[in-house]
Amino acid sequence: MINKKQFKNLLSGRSPKIAIILGSGLSEIANAIENPLIIDYHHIEGFPKSTVKGHKSRMVIGNFSNKEVLCMQGRFHLYEGHHPGVIADVIRSLRYVGIEELIITNAAGSLNPDIHPGEIMMIKDHINFSGQNSLIAFSDQEEFQRFVDMSNAYDKDLRAELRDIASEMGVLLHEGVYLMVLGPNFDTAAEVKAFRIMGADAVGMSTVPEVLAAVDCGIKVLAFSSITNFGTGMQEHPLTHDETLSVSSQASKNLTRLIQAYLAKD
Ligand code: HPA
Repeated sequence: MINKKQFKNLLSGRSPKIAIILGSGLSEIANAIENPLIIDYHHIEGFPKSTVKGHKSRMVIGNFSNKEVLCMQGRFHLYEGHHPGVIADVIRSLRYVGIEELIITNAAGSLNPDIHPGEIMMIKDHINFSGQNSLIAFSDQEEFQRFVDMSNAYDKDLRAELRDIASEMGVLLHEGVYLMVLGPNFDTAAEVKAFRIMGADAVGMSTVPEVLAAVDCGIKVLAFSSITNFGTGMQEHPLTHDETLSVSSQASKNLTRLIQAYLAKD
């Protein structure tokens, strides 16, 4: 378990209310943070480490677009072998230090012919197809619920705000359903066909465990997929991790601008 008191001490009096989890190739925001305090995950007792190429293992706390934010540069995937409860523990540690709102970004494959690589999809709902659940391990702790209502997991009001900001800025912002697979292999063509029939617009290997834990402990969620490719069978060439990294850097420019404009409000 994460030593939450020690984590709070390491923040040295900083008190961000918004956390941003940066997915593959989306680290630009962390680089733009002013007056940064950097905490390596391994300095916090019990904090897991990220093992994925393109992901660092640290958080950067400071000002971005006039708001104090905590940016997680490096997230945890179930395919790395982390227990799902470990991800819930990370989110609960954010709640413990005062986080009220979580902005999650990820790289995902499109299942929808109208949503193209290089574009952004704001997640309006999800399908948990990972076969795992981050609330299992620690959900007997009294301060958290067990039977969590998911009807507004991706906060409606925040999404409405983002739609307005995107249209003011002229940024194309899709909205759709994210389906989580466990990974780490990319999907088969048959799976992609099935996911489309199930009603999903994008597929990826993260985000759902964090969202479940955030909703459980009362953190509001906004989540965005930067679309890096069409699902297997929807595009001609095979998928590579390098492709997901390079295309996501295009989408991340717009996503960074969007988050910047959102934080600049009120
Ligand atoms: N499938 C699953 N995860 C992904 C994909 C995909 O096509 N692209 C980026 N992450």
